[in-house]
Amino acid sequence: MSESQIQSQWERVGGEAAVKAVLDRFYEGVLGEPQLAGFFENVAVDDIKPHLAEVLEVVLGGPNARTDIDLAGYLTEAHSGLGVSESDYALTGQVLMDTLNEFDVPADIQETIAGALATVQPFVVAA
Ligand code: HEM
Repeated sequence: MSESQIQSQWERVGGEAAVKAVLDRFYEGVLGEPQLAGFFENVAVDDIKPHLAEVLEVVLGGPNARTDIDLAGYLTEAHSGLGVSESDYALTGQVLMDTLNEFDVPADIQETIAGALATVQPFVVAA
């Protein structure tokens, strides 16, 4: 693609392969946090990753971004009954932002993701 063409943030990160690598690292980080690991004890993390990649593709405007996801309903449903606290959420967000830094993800894309983290918090954290 020539430099004059406008790329989505999804493409600038490196598309699906790069997002997959980031998510692999992110989950390593999450599972390495004693406060968070317990949530994933009986969960096949490899099954969650493609779903999280889909959410990120919506957030970063990738070419295959689904338009049929009701993010609020989907995320509320996925996390209902887990009892995720604000502190768990903040730590997970920190692990994600650390991972983005590790991969040298550009600042504007980090801002988009940080904004999305703030937006979806009410759907993930237990009331
Ligand atoms: C930005 C914040 C988050 C997003 C976008 C997100 C997204 C997702 C998605 C897309 C799924 C898969 C749903 C499916 O399989 O259809 C999922 C599952 C899950 N998430 Fe999250 N999540 C977030 C934060 C958290 C946090 C903070 C925790 C706990 C510390 C957490 C724990 C889990 C667990 C345990 C599952 C598996 C639930 C199950 O299969 O029983 N998530 N999440």
